[in-house]
Amino acid sequence: MNALSNVVSQLSSRSSAKTISPDEATTASPTKEEMSEEKQVKERVYLEVSNTSIEFPTKQGPFKALDDVNLKISRGEFITLIGHSGCGKSTVLNIIAGLLQATEGGVILEGREVDEPGPDRAVVFQNHSLFPWLTVYQNVELAVKQVFKGKKNKAEMVEWIEHNLELVHMSHALHKRPSEISGGMKQRVGIARALAMQPKVLLMDEPFGALDALTRAHLQDSLMEIQKETHNTVVMITHDVDEAVLLSDRIVMMTNGPAATIGEILEVELARPRNRVELADDSQYNHYRAEVLKFLYERQRKPDESAA
Ligand SMILES: Nc1ncnc2c1ncn2[C@@H]1O[C@H](COP(=O)(O)OP(=O)(O)O)[C@@H](O)[C@H]1O
Ligand SMILES: [Mg+2]
Repeated sequence: MNALSNVVSQLSSRSSAKTISPDEATTASPTKEEMSEEKQVKERVYLEVSNTSIEFPTKQGPFKALDDVNLKISRGEFITLIGHSGCGKSTVLNIIAGLLQATEGGVILEGREVDEPGPDRAVVFQNHSLFPWLTVYQNVELAVKQVFKGKKNKAEMVEWIEHNLELVHMSHALHKRPSEISGGMKQRVGIARALAMQPKVLLMDEPFGALDALTRAHLQDSLMEIQKETHNTVVMITHDVDEAVLLSDRIVMMTNGPAATIGEILEVELARPRNRVELADDSQYNHYRAEVLKFLYERQRKPDESAA
């Protein structure tokens, strides 16, 4: 466990019966000492995308997809990236993942530059990437063995795999193969596998994009429950405005490409836990929702949409 997560877990364990996250801390009236420590944790930059631009070589010459993207993320923050299709969201995520190299600038995670993929940045894609010949359990086991080889013994690994599958409510289907479970369940397993790697940052590229609305809502709720327990640092791409407001601490809104960059950042100060039904009538929730809609459909309206 690193120094920062030590601080966070000490803060939560000190607060008697109820476990609190840094986000909830203000409502749980912590002591003065706790406040200042938590503030320090929150203010420290954990992940930084710094002056990042990227050009892709194409037949027509270089195509500048991103121009001077700057973003500072604190430990435990839940960030969503939103923007029109093709603006460069996946490109930002892939640079953080180390799958793409920035042409200028780059990414710093906990003080170290990111220049290749690594298990400290687990990625969940829209279409689950489970191995079809392995069971649910074995799919998670594969990742756990890679990350924790020599660090956890056999019994600890079993416990850790089962724990993560329990977090996503998949304990009932440990021995099923991907072909025997629904799309929503496959995404749950993908999330469990990513969480089980205990990454510094969880990266998700439209993880619920291929799911029906009801399944999507269930998964969003599960994700919020998991987040309450694990306090992961998450960067998630979505094009769903409600999803962004419901889940995020901050919504990062991207301008249209080419040479896309961050247009505006919206801080979502809704108390947690968040309940979608209660929020439907909440004026603050609806204000945030309107802000994102205005950005997307007024300030960043695409030329072809004005004709529609
Ligand atoms: N490897 C590549 N070569 C050339 N152009 C690319 C490449 N990858 C992405 N692009 C272009 O960069 C832009 C941003 O793409 P992407 O990040 O996938 O958008 P989003 O995820 O927001 O839909 C698009 O115009 C896309 O066509
Ligand atoms: Mg994309």
